Amino acid sequence: VTPAAQHDPVTLATPVTPPLRRAAPHTYLMCRPDFFTVTYKINPWMDPAIPTDTSLALRQWQTLYDTYIALGHTVELIDQIDGLPDMVYSANGGFVIDNLAYGASFTHPERQPEGPAYMRWFADAGFTVAEPQNINEGEGDFMLVGDTILAGTGFRSASNSHEEVARLYDREVVTLNLVNPNFYHLDTAIAVLNQSADEAPDAATIAYLPSAFDAPSRAELERRYPEAILVSEADAAVLGLNSISDGYNVVIASRATGFEAQLRERGYNPIGVDLSELLLGGGGVKCCTLELRR
Ligand code: ARG
Repeated sequence: VTPAAQHDPVTLATPVTPPLRRAAPHTYLMCRPDFFTVTYKINPWMDPAIPTDTSLALRQWQTLYDTYIALGHTVELIDQIDGLPDMVYSANGGFVIDNLAYGASFTHPERQPEGPAYMRWFADAGFTVAEPQNINEGEGDFMLVGDTILAGTGFRSASNSHEEVARLYDREVVTLNLVNPNFYHLDTAIAVLNQSADEAPDAATIAYLPSAFDAPSRAELERRYPEAILVSEADAAVLGLNSISDGYNVVIASRATGFEAQLRERGYNPIGVDLSELLLGGGGVKCCTLELRR
């Protein structure tokens, strides 16, 4: 073997060290669960017969809030309205990019009054508000990745809302069809780990549960994100994907231990929080968090 052959770069093994990740500060909108309970059933997780503990929900929510503050993020608050128990899932209150807030128009009558309540908050906070023309549940079904918007449909947001969002933000929108009622919002089936980057080698830009999507959507995700983390059914079943990443720190359900290990392997810093009480409404970390992009 000649020295030249020994140093042929083509024969070098790929580095085992994970890529360097960088955290960026974010601004979130949250809703303290002062009136949290489960009084109706609009997803398979909810059962009004199971008692809820509002004070436990408040303590768990506070831990999530404190985690964001400790990570250096900014959290703004909207007051929960008595009688709107799902308002705590602020991710559904709208979708905000470039200081433009696309309002929500909820599928189920139980949540419909939340749409105007959130739009009032956006207007008061200085955002331009776009009144929605189509049924959509905000960031629950719209996720920004690089310059692309991933958009879910099948259970909640109507596909014509995807066209509306594409026009509004002048960005590419990729429609993804959800097929499992347990993962009824896109943010229960996909986690965006690095929203400022488009896919690069070893990017692990997103994580997702393949079986939550129909075959064409699965193929689209494979094509766009060949380096994605594929999570197990067990981790998805504790809403592990329903998480918030700042590009390095990823706040996840503490029970999603497999996902936690996968994140660590890929150079992320997973931080587990327990939102068991809010899971009774069918929501987790991400559902309780709306990103405000000014
Ligand atoms: N109970 C709420 C609903 O069914 C939960 C919303 C969860 N939010 C989310 N972004 N996935 O609408």
